[in-house]
Amino acid sequence: MIIAIDGTVASGKSTAARRLAQRLDYLYINTGLMYRGVAAYCRQHGIPTNDQRAVALHVKFLAVDLRNEPDGQHVHVNDHDLTAAATAPDIGAFVSDIADNPTVRDVLVRAQQRLGRAAGNAVLEGRDIGSVVFPDAPVKFYVDADVRERARRRLADDIKKHPALTLDEVEAATRARDERDRTRPVGALMRVPDAILIDTTHNAGPDATVDQMLAHLAKSTNPIRPINPIRPTDDCHA
Ligand code: DC
Repeated sequence: MIIAIDGTVASGKSTAARRLAQRLDYLYINTGLMYRGVAAYCRQHGIPTNDQRAVALHVKFLAVDLRNEPDGQHVHVNDHDLTAAATAPDIGAFVSDIADNPTVRDVLVRAQQRLGRAAGNAVLEGRDIGSVVFPDAPVKFYVDADVRERARRRLADDIKKHPALTLDEVEAATRARDERDRTRPVGALMRVPDAILIDTTHNAGPDATVDQMLAHLAKSTNPIRPINPIRPTDDCHA
């Protein structure tokens, strides 16, 4: 059973996906972390992320693994834990270059399909899960929220490190990331027709989003019910 979760940046999809997987005892697969891992590897090895050919040559020889650790999911590239570099605040533009690269997408999509099939029961989260990675997934969610609200959430996270940041600036950056995600030549973010829209604009937190998802799962023709109680979770990168 594959549950596909796609959605916009800062919509709350990552935390909700991880908690949903915990509640159901499914494997959680954060596909964005895989793109981030490749970006971190390229930076560390002096491979320009916007040089599509150079990146394509290297990516075929990379083993990109996700591992669950007590503080959340980690990405290992060729057996090196690159999680810190992959989630560094300045990685964004480099990851976007990597996510635009058709060869990288081809390699990572296959890896994600292998991981999902091997697990049997998995929650995969990203931008193209319902459209490309598992188009036949029986349950698909598309998570979104009003852009101003998403900017507010992002600002709340970033303000400690960047006290001069304004809400308007964060909103402009959020719109720009949406645009890049939606207009990517391959694997673009989209809401496929069979995806259930989860609007998190007015949700107080990720558990409200998980509850919305569980309510949909309970209504489906083959109801899926949580087997784990709500437990306090540590949030790593969103
Ligand atoms: O969800 P995130 O911010 O960690 O994703 C990192 C980048 O990878 C972001 O630029 C979107 C891209 N991405 C993608 O193109 N396809 C996915 N399935 C997951 C992420």
